[in-house]
Amino acid sequence: MSDFAELSLGDKRIQLPVITGTEDEKAIDIAKLRDETGYITIDSGYKNTGATKSAITFLDGELGILRYRGYSIEELAEKASFLEVAYLLIYGELPTAEQYATFENSIKMHTIVNEDMRKIFEGFPVNAHPMGVLSAMVCAMSAFYTGDKSGSDELNIIRLMAKMPSMATWSYKKSQGHPVNYPNNSLDYCSNFLNMMFALPVAPYQVDPVVSAALNKLLILHADHEQNCSTSTVRLVGSSHASLYASISAGINALSGPLHGGANQEVIEMLEAIKADGGDTAKYIAMAKDKNSGFRLMGFGHRVYKNFDPRARIIKKAADDVLAALGINDPVLKIASELEAAALSDEYFVARKLYPNVDFYSGIIYRALGIPTDMFTVMFAIGRLPGWIAQWKEMKANKEPIGRPRQVYVGATPREYVSMDQR
Ligand code: MLT
Repeated sequence: MSDFAELSLGDKRIQLPVITGTEDEKAIDIAKLRDETGYITIDSGYKNTGATKSAITFLDGELGILRYRGYSIEELAEKASFLEVAYLLIYGELPTAEQYATFENSIKMHTIVNEDMRKIFEGFPVNAHPMGVLSAMVCAMSAFYTGDKSGSDELNIIRLMAKMPSMATWSYKKSQGHPVNYPNNSLDYCSNFLNMMFALPVAPYQVDPVVSAALNKLLILHADHEQNCSTSTVRLVGSSHASLYASISAGINALSGPLHGGANQEVIEMLEAIKADGGDTAKYIAMAKDKNSGFRLMGFGHRVYKNFDPRARIIKKAADDVLAALGINDPVLKIASELEAAALSDEYFVARKLYPNVDFYSGIIYRALGIPTDMFTVMFAIGRLPGWIAQWKEMKANKEPIGRPRQVYVGATPREYVSMDQR
């Protein structure tokens, strides 16, 4: 096979280099296309566009493969801690025991959020969506933590990893009208988050190891997913040399949409609506098949996984284990398993590859862990943070140019201004 593709445009023929990735993925390099031909490409939603060469995450949507830095998601979810995976993503290799201890200790040294940031936080309305609060707080960090004079981003990376769980739990406490909890650095990353979420001045919270292990797994499964919408946003914003905080804050906003991270919240809201309507899952399965019903089954199918989402397989087992270990018997979760069983056995869904995805099961586990629905997307953001950081760092290390897509203009052709009294 030749290492270039040939393109003919009228009587002009040009050769475009072919790039091959380490997993034999192929791409046609069109960097010189416009200069040599005057043409650009159109690819709405960038479905066929590789925005970068990346060494972080490999994903094969046909085979259902997901690997971080070469390690399978199945193995990492089974054996690693979230901070180990964060280190792997950000620095490229699994940490030694010494590197891990230094990483964990530096994070612990920075878990406290500047008290003046609380004043900003206190101005948000009680019913504010925690994703809006989180993105604003992360953006505000650029004003409070100006960084290392050497220009290194190391300290900002540690600060983000350390403070994000604290700020996330503040937004929840605010919505409850409860005082915030401060970090307890004798706890591990996941247990510390749970303690800040659920401890009350009148009732100390005992971290359940089942809950903490499930959270660890969920965060690992969400830690990176190559060039998805929020990650592409982080890289694009960062390509203008905006700060790490500004870039991550933009990523949080991109994640908040119901077509991206907001989907896990939509899943539980859909299940609650079905329950409120009598819990007739067969009726909703029929509505999902009827294009005119206006009903959309949330949490089924995926843009890049064509056969199954490997994260969903792991998370489904974790969901079953958590529900059994915690002895949970929730009618909404019963509706979820009925929908899941119906969709997996129904020819309509099977033919269209509409299998439950990671958002379907993550919503179920978060609910079982007692995490309120509008915090689900925040949980996704905490998990995705090391992936965003790693991708931002890679973009900078590669000295990638500022992102600047072009367009095909389809508006009015030149015309003359007409004064208002003559229009
Ligand atoms: C993700 O994990 O970012 C989502 O599954 C969305 C995506 O990859 O497009």
